[in-house]
Parts: sequence; C-alpha cells; structure tokens
Amino acid sequence: MDSLAKQRIDALREELEEHNYKYYVLSAPVISDHDFDLKMKELQDLEARYPEYTDPNSPTQRVGSDINKNFIQAEHRYPMLSLSNTYSEEEVTDFYNRTQKSLNEPFELVCELKYDGTSVSLIYENGVLTQAITRGDGTRGDVVTDNVKTIRSIPLKLRGKHYPERFEIRGEILMPWEVFESLNKEREQQEEPLFANPRNAASGTLKLQNASVVASRRLDSYFYYLLGEDLPADEHYENLQYAKSWGFKVSDAVRKCGTLDEVFEFIRYWDIERRNLPVATDGIVLKVNSLRQQRNLGFTAKSPRWAISFKFQAEKALTRLNSVSFQVGRTGTVTPVANLEPVQLSGTLVKRASLHNADIINSLDLHIGDMVYVEKGGEIIPKITGVDKDARFLTGEKVQFIKNCPECGTPLVREPGEAAFYCPDENDCEPQIKGKIEHFVSRKAMDIHIGSENIEHFYKAGLIKNVADLYDLKAQDIVYLERWGEKSARNFLESIRESLKVPFERVLFALGIRYVGETVAKRLANSLHSIDCIMSADIWKLTEVDEIGDRIAQSVIRYFSDEKNRLLIERLRKTGVQMEIDRKILSEKTTKLGGLTFVISGTFSKHSRDEYKAMIEKNGGKNVASVSSKTDYVLAGDNMGPAKLEKAQKLGVKIIDEDFFLEMI
Ligand code: IVH
Repeated sequence: MDSLAKQRIDALREELEEHNYKYYVLSAPVISDHDFDLKMKELQDLEARYPEYTDPNSPTQRVGSDINKNFIQAEHRYPMLSLSNTYSEEEVTDFYNRTQKSLNEPFELVCELKYDGTSVSLIYENGVLTQAITRGDGTRGDVVTDNVKTIRSIPLKLRGKHYPERFEIRGEILMPWEVFESLNKEREQQEEPLFANPRNAASGTLKLQNASVVASRRLDSYFYYLLGEDLPADEHYENLQYAKSWGFKVSDAVRKCGTLDEVFEFIRYWDIERRNLPVATDGIVLKVNSLRQQRNLGFTAKSPRWAISFKFQAEKALTRLNSVSFQVGRTGTVTPVANLEPVQLSGTLVKRASLHNADIINSLDLHIGDMVYVEKGGEIIPKITGVDKDARFLTGEKVQFIKNCPECGTPLVREPGEAAFYCPDENDCEPQIKGKIEHFVSRKAMDIHIGSENIEHFYKAGLIKNVADLYDLKAQDIVYLERWGEKSARNFLESIRESLKVPFERVLFALGIRYVGETVAKRLANSLHSIDCIMSADIWKLTEVDEIGDRIAQSVIRYFSDEKNRLLIERLRKTGVQMEIDRKILSEKTTKLGGLTFVISGTFSKHSRDEYKAMIEKNGGKNVASVSSKTDYVLAGDNMGPAKLEKAQKLGVKIIDEDFFLEMI
C-alpha cells in the first residue's frame, strides 16, 4: 500500500517539476494553472500522510516554510570575484588588444547581457541542489538555500544524466519589472518603505527570514558561469548550452564573437533592445570563450583578466526646471517634485522628476530656470542628478523647501534623523484624510470593499470625512451616486458589516497610527488587550511591550492625546468595531509555558509548525528563530537541521519531541 503511495509521490514530483520547467524556464506551459494546483495539492496531501517520504527537493518545498531563521555563512570554494567595468568603446578595444597580445593566438569572445540583480552561487551534487550561497564579501556568503528553492526557474533536480558529479553554477537572481512595480504599489499602500530598484528588491527578498514570503515575490533567475573540476566542455559557451540542457535558465542573448565589430554590434543592439526585456540589465559582459585561454590569462586580485563588463550609459537628458511643487502623501510626507520642460528619455516623455528631499535640493543648489540633468537609473521615477551651472544666466529664485503644508497650511515638522518633512495635522489635511480611509479599508486592515476612486467620490459628495463615517452610510446615500447600483451598494454595505468581526489587532493596525504597522499592532494588542489599556498607557508601559521602542511609543501617545482621535475611537466602538482582543482567545490563554523560550525545527506529524507556534504563544511561551544559551527548549521534528541540533547539544538546550510538548501543555 505504502509503496503505491511512494510511486504516486514520485510520479507527481516528476510531473510537477516538468511543468515547472516548461512554465518558468521555457515560458511554454502545457497545462492550466488550475490543473497544476490540483496536482500540487494531491502531492502535498500525500506527503503529509506519508512523512517518511519527505524530500527537501520535492516541488512542494518551493512554497517555502514560514519558519524564521538567521542565515549561517559558508565559505565559497571559488571566490566570487567582480568584473572590471568599462564605459566606452575605446576601453573595450583596449581589452581586446590586451587579450590578443597576452594570448598571441586566435581567440573568441562570448558576449552576454549583464543582468542587474543579486548574484548567487548554487552547488549541485549528484544532480541535486544542495546549497545556495550569496556573494557576501566574495569569500564568504549567507546560505540562502531554502529561499532559493522557492524560485521556480531554478532546478532542484537536474534534467538528463550528463552533468558533473559536483559543480557550482553562478548567476543572477532577479525581480522582474512587473513584480517590482506591483510590490512597490502594495508597500506604498501598507506605508512600508519602497524599494529603489529591482536589484535592491531582489537582494532584500533573498535575505528575508521567511521563505514563504520569498515564494510570493516571484523572483526569476539567469545563470552565466560554471565552475567545477570536470565540466563537460573546455569552452564557456558550450558549457552554458549544457547548463541549459540540465534545466537552468540561460539567456538566449549570448553570442560568440570573432571580431571587435561583432562585439560592438552586440553592444549597440542590446543598448536599445534591453528596454523590452522583462528584467533589468545594466551592461554587457565579455568573456574569453576557451577555458584553457582563461586559465592562461588568470586573475588580478579582484577580477579575471579574461572578462570585462561594458556598462550602458544611464540615460540622461538636459532640460529646463520650470517650477517645483510639493505633494502631500497619504501619511503626510511632503515630497518635492520638479516640473520640467518635457524631454524624451528612455522612450518616454518626462515632464516631472523626483527631488527626494530638502537635503538633496540644497546640495544641488537649484534655481528655477536652471538647466538640469535628468536620469532614469534603475528607478522608475526619473531624478535630477545635476545642474549645468555654465548654462545659468537668467535664473530665477533659489528653490527653498516650504515651511507649511501646501494642502492645509499647518507648519511642517521633521523628526530627528529623518530626511522627510511631514504635515502633522492628520485629521484636517485632505490627502491625509483620504489616505487614512484608504488604509482603513485595505485588505490587511478592515477589508471593506471600496476602491480609492470611490473614496474620493464619497469624500467629494460630503458623505465621509473620516473612517467612522463609513459606518453611518445607508443604501439610499449610495445607490443614486454615479457608477453605483443596488447590487454594488449591497456588497459594499455587507463588507462594512463584516468588518465588525475583524479582530482587534487588525483594527488597531487599521487606525493608521504612524509607525504602528501590522506586527507592532499585533504586539500591542496581545500585550495590552484593549484600546482602553493602550490609550491610557504611559511611555513606560508601552515600551515594556516586546520590541516597542521610544519612537513607536511616542507616536501612540501623540495619537491618543488628540481629542479628535479619541472621539473617533468612541464612535467606532459604538458601531460595534472590536476594541479588545477576543475574550475567548484570552480565556484560552494559559501561563503553562510562562517565560519559556522555544525554537521549532523540522517537520511534525500531529500539528503543523504554525499550530505549534500558536500553542506556544497561547500558553505564555515565546518563539525564537535560532538556538542560543537563552533557549529553554528545542521542539524538534523530523529532519531537524544538523547545525541547530549540534548547537543545541553544545549549549545543553533540552531537545523535545511533539509528544513531550503536548504533554507539557
Ligand atoms: S560573470 C568572474 N556574467 O556582475 C566573473 N557576471 O561585476 C563572474 N553579472 O558578480 C561573473 N550578469 O553579479 C557574469 N552575464 C554575466 C553577468 C554577471 C551580471 C554580475 C554578477 C557579478 C557582477 C560582476
């Protein structure tokens, strides 16, 4: 019976990997997402029923575990070097001549795109991915294997048979433009800091502690460098083709060139064409094709002598600064925006550019009428990078940061150590009023089904001025509005009624108190239990809560010291919005594990890891990610990480299994 299950598990694993490959590497899926999900579900169920067949390289592992961990470091067997950069065709010619002189024989160059992400080195043993290490300092990097396994274009097991027993492959982990833009949009809504470019977003994602979040970020990859003792070919280009046949994503934009002219042709073509690629590139890499010749040329301390990169010019345009306007964001942050004489840049007409903050304006010594350089780097919003001071003759006034909010006139404030000014009058400043409502209704907050255009619509119609007004809305207020009908009004009002069930921690988050994000709200709610307790807490009481520092505590106190906010809370309370944590959950809480610290590791059969985590918290214990001398227990399942086990044993931390734990509680 069990062997039948094993057969089905194996078949599903193979089939799902094949579909993964077709979808993510070849971009040519052959089954529907739905059918794929069904098969994945079947495999997950089977693996849960037969934990003895757990395999760390099963396709189910690509969803990522949600355990938090600190990364361990590993030494690179071959250092991860960088390339020396060139910026002009002359420098490329120099490289070519230098190489020719050194080799004194014919040679080929391989031209590739220089992908602008974050590099990793993957180690495969007997066709299986065993370790993924970041570049780190070039000698040692973080081991990010679990996170890398969530990237669908990376093979966990290789295809075919003719791969070396052990080899490393290096490449770039990338966040496609499209994912980057939607991630930033989401972060803006959640008031989280934005990523400046896809490179930062990719490297930030790869270092996340939670692999299931990594999995949701849809990273992609390209591989461009093989290392090992027994590579199949003695030519770089051929090795890349082998890598492709083993299932790696290798770019099609790779060309063997015999002459400098061919190299320049490649450069010029991709300098334009790269704008149509789904991922960021910032140049071209040239490599000597023959590995024998590479060995002869060798390395300098920092980079190989057999390769260089040619960096594309960040596109730049010169245009006139007509005026500067100041925009108030939905959290009150004031951003200066340059209004420019329209100019063509990277295929779009640029009329406005970001000036970031007051310090940047001052350091540029900007005057109205100046001729300014605009660049579109990795960022989506173009920025002003310099002033052509020689072109300055009839300039206007020096650009000064404003002192008062352009929307409501309130004097702006700047917190120590922060670059941005903001308007503190959160309840009377129009963009902030709308921003607060947008945040309140968002999915992770109260999940009320209304978009920002309709919020604007309601606000203009005088129906809502704050979040409490939402609960006074009646069907007859809405049905006559443009674009609304009976059905949409009913759905909307239903979602408002449903929001009365939203637990207190999310309500607290929904209020939009500065610095009180999802996690902070959860912490405050779990420790202080009710809005009354939080409202009356002083700075000492607030900072006693785990991970709540002065900055957050001050902000909470400031929020509740405003009469308007207290009135708002009272109105929300009257409508039935949850203002304390659920008594049932509270009464189920025990102190059986009071003060004890747990690390969970491995896979379990009776409950999921999440369930164990929740049990620990419910019983007064604390979950931590890594074993230290302060850990009381390691709750160990199957396949516990060997490093954790060793550390726990060394420190004399008690290791318990799930039965023992269940006894404890
Ligand atoms: S080859 C020893 N090829 O650029 C040379 N690197 O400055 C190994 N990169 O760390 C690198 N695309 O992160 C190579 N086609 C490509 C590349 C590439 C991007 C990155 C990589 C490397 C950096 C070198």
